[in-house]
Amino acid sequence: MPKKLIIANWKLNPTTIKDAKKLASLISVKAKNKVVLCPPAVYLSQINYPNLGAQDCFWQDKGAYTGQVSPLQLKDLKIKYCIIGHSELRAIGENDSMINFKLRTLLQHKIIPVLCVGFGTTVEQEDMEVVDVLRAQLEAGLKDVDASKIVVAYEPVWAIGTGKTATPEHAEKIGIFIKAKYGIKTVLYGGSVNASNAREFLQQRNVGGLLVGGASLIAKEFNQIINI
Ligand code: PGA
Repeated sequence: MPKKLIIANWKLNPTTIKDAKKLASLISVKAKNKVVLCPPAVYLSQINYPNLGAQDCFWQDKGAYTGQVSPLQLKDLKIKYCIIGHSELRAIGENDSMINFKLRTLLQHKIIPVLCVGFGTTVEQEDMEVVDVLRAQLEAGLKDVDASKIVVAYEPVWAIGTGKTATPEHAEKIGIFIKAKYGIKTVLYGGSVNASNAREFLQQRNVGGLLVGGASLIAKEFNQIINI
């Protein structure tokens, strides 16, 4: 199996720097796949791991923007990736044009955006209906963006943190669509990935890797996933 990209989204966990450092120290640095850890932004400067990513960032470099994280600050910390458009942020008001600004700014600073799509999908939808939802998000998000430089993570929102997953065949179909239609090179699957189901997703040719939430907080389980 070719090397795939596996991104850990720690979300708002853990709640102490001690626990964050401990978790990072337990993750294999010589895994079979390429691994990126995305801890909360406040920990980024103190976590020691070969590839780090942020979970979000603002579209302005500096100025009067209370509470934001600047892409220049990420760049200064040598952060290589940044998740953008996660459904947990879309759910509290992030829209496609904000996402588009963020992607453009990150690319200017040579940070690889990981664009999440899949908010608004439902488990009952046929593949074509899912594609319609994704098309709207991709077309708005990718406006004037060099899509060949970004990673897309397909995360059906109903699968996030629920223990339910899409089928690997569905993830493969969506991977084919996103790559062919938008010129994206790497499409990840995310949503309740764990050590038991990761392999069948990674075996799909057009699933370029995984975005892992809950299971990335359990070092033993995450090490199994990244070593498949
Ligand atoms: P989950 O989260 O693996 O806990 O479902 C994935 C994500 O939200 O990126």
